[in-house]
Amino acid sequence: MFVSPPCLVTISYRLLFVALILVILPNEICGGARTPFFDLTAYSDWPQFEDYIKGVAHDNPSFVQLKQIGKSREGRPLLGLKIGKPSKDGKRKIASWLDGGNHAREWPAFHVAVYFIEKLVNGYLIDDKITKYVDTLDIYVFPILNPDGFVYSRTSTRAMIRQWRKNRAPENCTGTGVFQTDVCCVGVDLNRNYDIGFSQSSYPFNNPCSDEFQGPYPFSEPESRAVRDFIMSSEIYGRLYALVSMHTHGQLWILPYNYQKRTYPQDFKDLETLANRAAEKVYAYRETKYRVGTAADLLGTATGGATDWIKKNTPTKYVYVLELPPDMKTWFAFQVKPHWLIPIGKETWIGIEVILDQVIEETKDFKPTESTADSTADIRSPRFRQL
Ligand SMILES: *[C@@H]1O[C@H](CO)[C@@H](O)[C@H](O)[C@H]1NC(C)=O
Ligand SMILES: [Zn+2]
Repeated sequence: MFVSPPCLVTISYRLLFVALILVILPNEICGGARTPFFDLTAYSDWPQFEDYIKGVAHDNPSFVQLKQIGKSREGRPLLGLKIGKPSKDGKRKIASWLDGGNHAREWPAFHVAVYFIEKLVNGYLIDDKITKYVDTLDIYVFPILNPDGFVYSRTSTRAMIRQWRKNRAPENCTGTGVFQTDVCCVGVDLNRNYDIGFSQSSYPFNNPCSDEFQGPYPFSEPESRAVRDFIMSSEIYGRLYALVSMHTHGQLWILPYNYQKRTYPQDFKDLETLANRAAEKVYAYRETKYRVGTAADLLGTATGGATDWIKKNTPTKYVYVLELPPDMKTWFAFQVKPHWLIPIGKETWIGIEVILDQVIEETKDFKPTESTADSTADIRSPRFRQL
């Protein structure tokens, strides 16, 4: 069709107008563009995560800080963000921790952690609830605690690679297979490597060729040591009140402890009650049904788990593992179709809000000490234990 000159003029005026709006209006007014672009409708690779995490911190220095807690076996940074407006009086704030777990193939969990960052950073000063979280708490988000395994799992669609779970620890040649001994296998299951229930002789955790190889000794891996050391550091020890570690899959809201059946922390009822409330809220959104309990009781024991160790060795009260959708009916459904990432992010965030609300409610009279010395656990935060 022939386009007359006046029409062209109109079009270009419109374009100019749109361009002006984009340039002039600051992000705050547009509502939610403080973060660099991250595509949550597809699976991304490690460099995108790395750039994104660094970018969010770089662009929002007034309330976001980059955290590198260590390096992986292959030297990749273990990256996260501290999201929290520094308190006016410089006092220590209560903290919470959200992570995307440490299993290579559990890609949706890593992406949902990014969804949480999007929510917190872009909602600050726009959404009242988010603003309250960011003002009241320091929320640490670590999307990927096993970057080497993740990178490896992205290199091929062959099941052996794409379904990789462990880190990339050098091979150990004492493995066993069917009718085979002295088999060489790579990798340690970081979620069996913590010092809880660890035993040289427990099968299959002592078999280097098992997907759940615990490693030669507790904390043999730099990735698990980094988490331990940061959790025990003066930066967060004694003020970390809730920790949620996301995995896939099964729709399970997992409570401690899991290194043994029928073994529970003293305050198990509190953890269970809150988990049930959160799971109900998640269900209300689109009927995603979580089962609540210990994995040891629901599925079988798993020794050396990160959250078990954290619950046992720190005063952090609410410690959970979430096995995100889908449910257990489908085998090996670790990687849902990526168009589910945002719906799963949304519903899971609803559960996280229940937890953060409870953290704020329970700690409102808590007066954190100025700082905590790295001495023994008991004297570091006696006040905290009574909460
Ligand atoms: C290999 O694995 C076995 C079984 O856990 C362990 O005893 C041994 O120390 C490991 N070797 C190395 C070099 O890590
Ligand atoms: Zn997992």
